[in-house]
Amino acid sequence: MEKNKEIVLSGIRPTGFLHLGNYFGALQNWARMQYEYECYFFIADWHSLTTHADTRELRSNTISLVSELIAGGLDPDVCTIYAQSDILEIPELYLYLNMLAYKGELEKTVTFKEKARKQPENINAGLLTYPVLQAADILVHRSHFVPVGKDQEQHIEMTRNFAERFNHRYGTVFPVPKAFSYSDGLIKILSLDGTGKMSKSEQQMNTIYLKDEDDLITKKIMRAKTDQGPQSPNSKKPDYIEGLFTLLSLVSSAEVLAKYEDDFNHCRIRYGDMKKQLAIDLIRFIKPIREKAAALQNDPAQIDEILAKGAEKARKSASATLSEVRKALGFK
Ligand code: TRP
Repeated sequence: MEKNKEIVLSGIRPTGFLHLGNYFGALQNWARMQYEYECYFFIADWHSLTTHADTRELRSNTISLVSELIAGGLDPDVCTIYAQSDILEIPELYLYLNMLAYKGELEKTVTFKEKARKQPENINAGLLTYPVLQAADILVHRSHFVPVGKDQEQHIEMTRNFAERFNHRYGTVFPVPKAFSYSDGLIKILSLDGTGKMSKSEQQMNTIYLKDEDDLITKKIMRAKTDQGPQSPNSKKPDYIEGLFTLLSLVSSAEVLAKYEDDFNHCRIRYGDMKKQLAIDLIRFIKPIREKAAALQNDPAQIDEILAKGAEKARKSASATLSEVRKALGFK
């Protein structure tokens, strides 16, 4: 199939193992997009330094992340997978964009305020300019679409502003990129206790990782929060129940889902049975991904080679952009 000419880019920080929220919220879309667009997916290792000063696990995290991305559906022969830190054009562009980013708007960014609250002892300038580095990631390939979750929309909006300011001041170099999601919208995977999204770092037992062994998956599902069941027909599901149904809709058959929907609506649901079924179906789904990721992870030389090839392709695109940028700025 002939791909669209538009450029798609997204990135992920190497700060932990991938979970179902990452898979259904991001990776699955990326895997589909790679066949439709010119796609760049990268490991945001520089970004991780804003919150993870200790870099001892950076390399192993990167290797496991790339392994999981590939096991989860990215094909390094179809899309470009690279580490941010291999592309030195990014910090050069970051420097130029920093002159177009104002202290006031950076301080107002929601993610900045949150992280500053979480690490008051380390509110570094990198944290403040995090969205500028992200804009450089995006603009360095003159990207059109950026598939990201809701929490990143403000960063994309800022990227659009920086691109417009640059184009306006120095001449048009950048397309103004858009946040992207397939029209079916983003799937939100809830934490197993129903409090917010599944997340990488918090509450390990409420998050299902792609690396979880079969019995751990069963254990987590069986202890997920439920209640005594609805007291009247066709009730609204509480968040923690809705979350289990979402998982069921993603990994179980249509018949299984319909049966438990029906049981719920008729107040005869047995959550124990539903969870047993969900655990079986989740294991069937995760096991092949986990095994493929483990095999890749045990062959770091292969991952290095994939990243080297990706970096080469990414550098080609980035250096073409930077030569336009330098020209527009008036450097030779
Ligand atoms: N900030 C993103 C996150 O936390 C990661 C990221 C860095 C990114 N650079 C990017 C995402 C560029 C999209 C495009 O999830």
